[in-house]
Amino acid sequence: MLLSDSPLQQSARDHLLLHFSRNGSPAPLLVLERGEGPYVFDTEGHRYLDGLSSLFCAQIGYSYGEELASVAAAQLQQLAFSTVWGAAHPAAIELAETLAELMPGDLDHVFFTSGGSESVESAWKLVRQYHVANGEPQRTKAIARDRAYHGVTLGALSFTGVPNYKEQFGPPAIPVTHVSNTNMFRGPGPGEDEAAFCRRLLDEVEAAIQAEGPDTVAMIIMEPVQNAGGCLAPPAGYWQGLREIADRHGILLVSDEVICGFGRLGEWLGVERYGVVPDLATTAKGLTSAYAPMGAVMVSDKVAQPLYEAGRMLMHGITFAGHPLCAAIAVRNLEVFRRDGILENVRAQEPHLQARLDELRALPVVGDVRGAGFFWALELVKDDENTRLDADERERVLRGFLPGRLLEAGLIARPDDRGDAVLHVAPPLISDAGVIDELAAKLGEVLTDAHDVLHGKA
Ligand SMILES: Cc1ncc(COP(=O)(O)O)c(C=O)c1O
Repeated sequence: MLLSDSPLQQSARDHLLLHFSRNGSPAPLLVLERGEGPYVFDTEGHRYLDGLSSLFCAQIGYSYGEELASVAAAQLQQLAFSTVWGAAHPAAIELAETLAELMPGDLDHVFFTSGGSESVESAWKLVRQYHVANGEPQRTKAIARDRAYHGVTLGALSFTGVPNYKEQFGPPAIPVTHVSNTNMFRGPGPGEDEAAFCRRLLDEVEAAIQAEGPDTVAMIIMEPVQNAGGCLAPPAGYWQGLREIADRHGILLVSDEVICGFGRLGEWLGVERYGVVPDLATTAKGLTSAYAPMGAVMVSDKVAQPLYEAGRMLMHGITFAGHPLCAAIAVRNLEVFRRDGILENVRAQEPHLQARLDELRALPVVGDVRGAGFFWALELVKDDENTRLDADERERVLRGFLPGRLLEAGLIARPDDRGDAVLHVAPPLISDAGVIDELAAKLGEVLTDAHDVLHGKA
């Protein structure tokens, strides 16, 4: 069992403001100090399978420290810092060139940031400048999806569609209309097949644009597979439909790849899986596999072209964006991806991961298993009729029981009820069949107990 109230845990409670963490959780505070492969270890030496890749970041796991530390040391000794404001440095240039090579289509230009929220806000500011340069300054609105998470800094928060994340902070900085998401488990009406559901969702996007006035809408921002709500993959044809709508109205299409990018769905960009090239792609997390904090907005030729015009100044900048240390680490991380077959591993192991998770449908508490690549969610339900958990059951199971029981089983996964009650699973992209089997076994054990707790048997 985990020990609670160690001096470090106590000190954390006294001084460390934990992000998005509910105070008073019955589970002991997890204090991690070491990583190895897909595993992390706490200060008491307990080992956990990181079934969430440290919030979808640790693509290559935790065993590349030595290699990346030598890259970091060399960069820090050569040039510890320089900006990309009116100047440049070799690490940022090399990374930009590498990204341009790897990205699909004409996504050949990069604006660096320090993380996901900054990438989303930067995309918005690039989009606005593109429209202004094209003589369309009236394009000031955006379309995003219900329950989608696009970050919580004040600009990014406008796009985020989780009401209680926004309530305390006043009117959104950017006018955004939120349309239905692609929940294929709960969304389709009786008798509505995937194609009809897709058509209805796209009609709703079109109607939202018409309601706002097509020439006032600047961008559509969506994730390839939406995280919040539980790995909501798109119905077939959805992204092609978005592309067509955006093009018809002169709106820019932004794929938020902060989670889905860099291999999570087995491609450099998740949206490649759905056969579309966006106008911009917002990235972070997997760009460095989180060996350093960094984000990047990938920008198409079309969008970048006016930004390079002589005499024009890009009205946006972030001091640490493109930091040499982070850029050097990102370059090597992308090299590791290619050298060690990270995308290939995801593609090879996805069927096994899906099959092992699908077996958990046999448990009455598992209503749905959905996702793609190494990005999955299990929707937890009350019974075989897939009855949703009520507020009290969510409290008991998602907050009261699962956090502690998962840790006891040596597994990190995320219970989440921003939409329906789900358990998120997203292992490091280096995970082999054995790790996947271990993940599935631990999930089975924990969810069997969750069922008992739900029905008052434990
Ligand atoms: C899709 C998406 N966009 C943006 C963000 C914000 O990223 P960050 O937390 O790095 O600011 C996140 C964070 O998880 C995300 O999942």
